[in-house]
Amino acid sequence: MKLADNKATLSFSNGSPSVELPVYQGTIGPDVIDIRKLYAQTDMFTYDPGFLSTASCQSAITYIDGDKGELLYRGYPIEQLATNCNYLETCYLLLNGELPDAAQKADFEKLVTNHTMVNEQMQFFLRGFRRDAHPMAVLTGLVGGLSAFYHDSTDINNPEHRQISAIRLIAKMPTLVSMAYKYGVGQPYQYPQNNLSYAGNFLRMMFGNPCEEYKVNPVIERAMDRIFILHADHEQNASTSTVRLCGSSGTNPFAAIAAGVACLWGPAHGGANEACLNMLEDIQRMGGVAKVGEFMEKVKDKTSGVKLMGFGHRVYKNYDPRAKLMQETCNEVLAALGLENDPLFKLAKELEKIALEDEYFVSRKLYPNVDFYSGIVQRAIGIPVNLFTGIFALARTVGWIAQLNEMISDPEYKIGRPRQLYTGSVRRDVPTKR
Ligand code: CMC
Repeated sequence: MKLADNKATLSFSNGSPSVELPVYQGTIGPDVIDIRKLYAQTDMFTYDPGFLSTASCQSAITYIDGDKGELLYRGYPIEQLATNCNYLETCYLLLNGELPDAAQKADFEKLVTNHTMVNEQMQFFLRGFRRDAHPMAVLTGLVGGLSAFYHDSTDINNPEHRQISAIRLIAKMPTLVSMAYKYGVGQPYQYPQNNLSYAGNFLRMMFGNPCEEYKVNPVIERAMDRIFILHADHEQNASTSTVRLCGSSGTNPFAAIAAGVACLWGPAHGGANEACLNMLEDIQRMGGVAKVGEFMEKVKDKTSGVKLMGFGHRVYKNYDPRAKLMQETCNEVLAALGLENDPLFKLAKELEKIALEDEYFVSRKLYPNVDFYSGIVQRAIGIPVNLFTGIFALARTVGWIAQLNEMISDPEYKIGRPRQLYTGSVRRDVPTKR
């Protein structure tokens, strides 16, 4: 980051001396006012619940222009990456800053492929869960549990440990997600098959069984890979900030990523794809397209507590570029599976059309986000609704790792420790007689 020519001046109406604050510029996007010395200079904190105006770090990984609806990974537009690259190339880019050449790509694929199996003991750990446990509960446990199995890569301050844990996490997440799924449905886990692509291997571990040969459908394989690319990183969102905060204490990488998985689970974040599909199924049960108007009235009624899931975003105040790509994939997958007349897809399109014209949504700049169509694609592929967030976690793992490693390598990083405006009781004494 570079010092800007101008400075910010903070003045007070009570006559306290004003303070000058440095301003820094990034390569694109808003400048930042450096308030690190504010407390020392004024005895005051800033107040910003939800980080609406606070940059918590500098980062060179992902850039979002929410007004334009633009998403860049290391400078490359998501549309180009989703069209011209596969997920592992995208992982390499996020981790290393550049796209791999042919030799780097082959080496990286080999490295990831060599780590797809998990310690055999993990399955006994998995068996401790109830069969009907939510896959995100299982995944939070399994990912955290990796730190109990891979002791040689738990030192976050050792670059070699960070490198090994990164590869292990990227390689093992599909295995863990599919194990969580197979356990829930009472089927045997499928060991990874390393002659398949990353997405193809995941599909086989999900839907294959020991009795039959599983043939990967290339349209579904590409769709899965695209879902992974679109979810790979999204700058300082809630789960990524959680991973950074957790890692800032010096905890091991597996523990930090497990914290990210836990955060992602919430319906306002990664859980939205599950919530969105449940919403579409509810409307379908109520009567489908004919009931859209009635449902929209509920969404607009603030007392109802109903939200249009898959709509709205903290940063995008325009169409989420990932939603456009996901809609494209949705069309391809439904066509390949002969599901063009899928009633939920029709319903989603109708909801989107109405919302994009409705004053409530227009005035608040609420547009479809990535989760609006991803649930329909995943459902068509055969992924159960309660596993959607697990797939998101699988894909986002690389982003979490890239961000965590960037933080550890940043000489300015400190343990994260927000301050507060205290509104509780002032000092008082415990009554001696109670
Ligand atoms: N349906 C109805 N009203 C909404 C919605 C929605 N989906 N989203 C926002 N609003 C309203 C909100 O009530 C508020 O209205 P008012 O100004 O009258 O109080 C206004 O729009 C601004 O919303 P906000 O809640 O202040 O915005 P936020 O930045 O705090 O929240 C959000 C962003 C994503 C949590 C929210 O839009 C939401 O809950 N959407 C539904 C859940 C969802 O789809 N989440 C996935 C996010 S994308 C995937 C990911 O990155 O995890």
